[in-house]
Amino acid sequence: MIFVDACFGKETEYTPVWMMRQAGRYLPEYMEVRRKVGNFLDMTRNPEVVAEVTIQPIDILDVDAAILFSDILNLPMEMGLPLRFEKGVGPIFDKTIDTEEDIEALDSSADEKLEYVYKGVKLIRERLSEEKALIGFAGSPWTIATYMVEGRGSKQYAKIKKMVYSNPMMLHRLLAFNTKVTIEYLSKQIEAGANAVMVFDSWGGALEKEKFFEFSWNYMKEIAKNIKEKYPHIPVILFSKGVGLYMDEMDGEFDVIGIDWATPIDYALRIFKDNYTLQGNMEPTRLYSKSATKEAVEKIAGVMKGHRHIFNLGHGILPDVPVENAKYFVNLCKKITRK
Ligand code: CP3
Repeated sequence: MIFVDACFGKETEYTPVWMMRQAGRYLPEYMEVRRKVGNFLDMTRNPEVVAEVTIQPIDILDVDAAILFSDILNLPMEMGLPLRFEKGVGPIFDKTIDTEEDIEALDSSADEKLEYVYKGVKLIRERLSEEKALIGFAGSPWTIATYMVEGRGSKQYAKIKKMVYSNPMMLHRLLAFNTKVTIEYLSKQIEAGANAVMVFDSWGGALEKEKFFEFSWNYMKEIAKNIKEKYPHIPVILFSKGVGLYMDEMDGEFDVIGIDWATPIDYALRIFKDNYTLQGNMEPTRLYSKSATKEAVEKIAGVMKGHRHIFNLGHGILPDVPVENAKYFVNLCKKITRK
């Protein structure tokens, strides 16, 4: 698999490419399935639908890796926090973590309730062609904690940051709990057939540097270390958003680091050299324009030439991007880097 080879820094014929949120609303084929099923969460709980939607971007765009169709919030949902998605708001937990008792009440066997995910992984792996990798994933302990504590996406993160500074022990308890269950969850995805795993830390950048390492990165490193110990042949990808200036102290036992669009990739390369494969990082909004896409792909390919790289966007694709432009991006990344 070209994707797995690139994760480990092996020579590849061209630089492999995929897109964050590649299974989603910009694809008419996805919208069709979503109309039939009715709601997003029900889609994630149906292995047949999970398999179908995961494979769509492979068939339509010919990306080199499929990413499991699910959500980072299925795990806290199965810990016992009912989840709903509201139009215009996003994910909402009506019950939140406020006390030590709330942490105690969380279900530590949540990973066992996610059988629908593992069934989906098995189906995908059966149907996916051999040269395409399947990426499993989870949210970082910190990022899922922000939703568990705040109840929804937040601008200020006032509630969880109050915990950072006034009740750090309690927050560490929650993060340690999330970490343990996440290791089990990712292990089960690997056992079911995932070829790589990625940890999404979308809200790492909400923390100042010292607190980022203490409350987010250290737990991600722990997940990576555990997975690498058990599954050395499975690449581990870590992605924290909004932490470009913290990268000089980011290290650990993982293979690939996701670079967000706000971090210049030449800067990331100066820091990480070829110790890890860099994944990213075109500004996703460039996909509205082919010429803007071309400009960025050429620039990124130029910087990363001869170095460990996987092409991707610097965050998720937006719902109203023309499919044709997404295809253009994928083809161009391959063409421009082909040896
Ligand atoms: O990348 C992929 O295609 C794989 C599937 C995937 C989804 N969510 C599907 C999804 C992955 C890897 C995620 C991760 C995720 N979910 C993150 C981390 C990555 C990031 O984007 O920073 C976060 C923070 C979430 C939580 C979440 N789920 C949000 C904020 C939303 C958006 C709500 C909205 O109205 O846009 C979701 C919903 C969601 N997750 C959708 C998809 C395809 C949209 C569902 C739909 O409307 O059909």
